[in-house]
Amino acid sequence: MPPVIARTREELAAVRSGARGALALVPTMGALHEGHRSLIRRARAEAGAETGTVVVSVFVNPLQFGPGEDFDRYPRTLAADLAVCAEEGVDAVFAPGREVMYPAEPEVTVRAGTMGERVEGVTRPGHFDGMLTVVLKLFNLVRPDLAVFGEKDAQQLAMIRRMVADLDVPVRIVGAPTVREPDGLALSSRNRYLSAAERATALALSRALRAGADAAADGPAAILAAARGVLDAAAAAEPPLAPDYLVLVDPVTFTEITGPHEGPAVLAVAGRVGATHLIDNVHLQPGPAKEH
Ligand code: PAF
Repeated sequence: MPPVIARTREELAAVRSGARGALALVPTMGALHEGHRSLIRRARAEAGAETGTVVVSVFVNPLQFGPGEDFDRYPRTLAADLAVCAEEGVDAVFAPGREVMYPAEPEVTVRAGTMGERVEGVTRPGHFDGMLTVVLKLFNLVRPDLAVFGEKDAQQLAMIRRMVADLDVPVRIVGAPTVREPDGLALSSRNRYLSAAERATALALSRALRAGADAAADGPAAILAAARGVLDAAAAAEPPLAPDYLVLVDPVTFTEITGPHEGPAVLAVAGRVGATHLIDNVHLQPGPAKEH
């Protein structure tokens, strides 16, 4: 059965009141790909194959794009997204217009705090404020029991977990693993901007993470040096990769790990190829630094 499409708050309220069992929400900005399919399947598994309800939201949130970013050209492919949702057995798609999500220019918004000013927040000031604001609104409108987000946006996931804890939002957050192309490129709706040559350069991001992960046993400095080597080569490629950051961070706070470290870490990387901003990350367990 095709999913019910709710475009207004009233239509969403009808979906909500007809929902059976646990309700799982998968918030997206559309342009759905295999990575989103894996989030939807995880939502179905978590909500209950027979008894639960899966809702996918599709909304390109203007609040989380800065001046000069790709809000205008962000792919809007609702017909194709609905077909994906139908194939995946989604119960309902919430696809509001801007006037539904923001009937008035928002005055009171979520502030991401210092955590939102780190790492990706340096490159995209205000991005996490806008992202958290729309996610909290979606939680309030859909009132899900659980919501599924991809680990590819590791800082986004950490910030949502933090918001839910700090503001006592009654929803369980589930993280789902990054889905990659066979050659390692992390799936992203922005990959469709890339020419073949740009895509080849973009592969350096996942290669850098693999090089870093391979050096994990030798400690933080070795991880960063190994990953940096790959990025430096890509910076000299044609077309070049313009790195935005390469950092080893605490997975919960996203503070940078600069010295010896015990416990899990995230190696996060971002860069631009042409006009396209791409991010990727890997979880690893750094060993003690090697004595030289
Ligand atoms: O990850 C995304 O697609 C967006 O940031 C989200 C969570 C749907 C909020 O707009």
